[in-house]
Amino acid sequence: MLRSKTKPLLRALCGEILTPPPWWLMRQAGRYLPEYRAVRAKARDFVEMCLTPAVAAELTLQPVRRYHMDGAILFSDILILPHALGQKLTFREGKGPVLEPIESFADLRRLKPDQATPRLEPVFDAVRRVAETLDPETALIGFAGSPWTVATYMVEGGVSKDFSRVKSWAYRDPDGFAELVNLLVRGTVELLASQMAAGAEVIQLFDSWAGILPEPAFERWVIEPTRLIVSALKSRFPDRPVIGFPRGAGLLYERYITETGVDGIGLDTTVPADYACARLQQLATVQGNLDPVMLSAGGPGLETAVRELCCSLGGGPFVFNLGHGVLPQTPPENIAMLARLLSEPNAID
Ligand code: CP3
Repeated sequence: MLRSKTKPLLRALCGEILTPPPWWLMRQAGRYLPEYRAVRAKARDFVEMCLTPAVAAELTLQPVRRYHMDGAILFSDILILPHALGQKLTFREGKGPVLEPIESFADLRRLKPDQATPRLEPVFDAVRRVAETLDPETALIGFAGSPWTVATYMVEGGVSKDFSRVKSWAYRDPDGFAELVNLLVRGTVELLASQMAAGAEVIQLFDSWAGILPEPAFERWVIEPTRLIVSALKSRFPDRPVIGFPRGAGLLYERYITETGVDGIGLDTTVPADYACARLQQLATVQGNLDPVMLSAGGPGLETAVRELCCSLGGGPFVFNLGHGVLPQTPPENIAMLARLLSEPNAID
């Protein structure tokens, strides 16, 4: 099932230095694409799109057909795991995800961990469909949210401003909160190992809210669960790279890399390229970190920023990406320009 390591994304994640660097974009499928909006307009809801294999496979391939990125990220969502665990999930137009909050140890009874893997079968089916049709140069990326970030949505019931519910639970009752996190570690390992068995060649763990925790909590709720997930995946699929994206980790990026064992590190927009080059690139392949607003704004500044980033990080193992997801207002032609820049060997020097 595992294809050979000739794919540029896999080579870069093994530590090779490639010029130009391989690239893909977080949230490369989505509302900025007219063909995505056409599928979305016909679907009943977002969760149904994620759980209909033919639709999820088609949405995975849409951006790759246009721009030939080096990675195709499975179309799904980090909140499909809580949904599969039995927590009711809806997406409201303009409001984002809404979940029935789990607020205490007692509420964990509402979750049904045994049912999760069978309910996720459509996700694995989508992975198999993409793996069958993907061109031989493109790597298939599976993903999940990290337990901490998924827990923030489960406890807050959706997007939050100050995360006071989830932090209060973690600070007040760490042993009870650990039950939720441990349940998510087990569910995430099952989800990702099954994606790998179905053909995912790389995994990314999205920890979008890693950056809101002080160091001791970061150690317990970000580093430790990630370390457990990485080691469980490595014992089953030793050769498949794992990328961690602890957004906002700041000064804790270094500890995150060395203590979790990830092969690649996704950098958010605020991490300085010179720092990443001096301190992080010898620890892992770095991925990132163009400002998504730069991509959406376009113009001459975009070309300069892309060149500068490639110049600063292109001397070591590097995967070009954004510092966060593509914004819905991004003009598709700006991504076409980025694709052109990144495909010309002489464009970046
Ligand atoms: O990268 C990709 O193209 C693959 C698909 C993908 C989606 N979500 C599709 C999606 C991935 C990797 C995600 C990850 C995800 N989902 C994260 C981590 C990355 C990040 O952005 O920090 C988070 C926090 C979520 C949870 C989530 N899903 C939120 C908060 C929202 C609402 C905000 C929004 O942009 O609408 C979603 C919805 C969502 N997930 C959409 C897509 C394409 C938009 C749904 C729509 O069409 O209305």
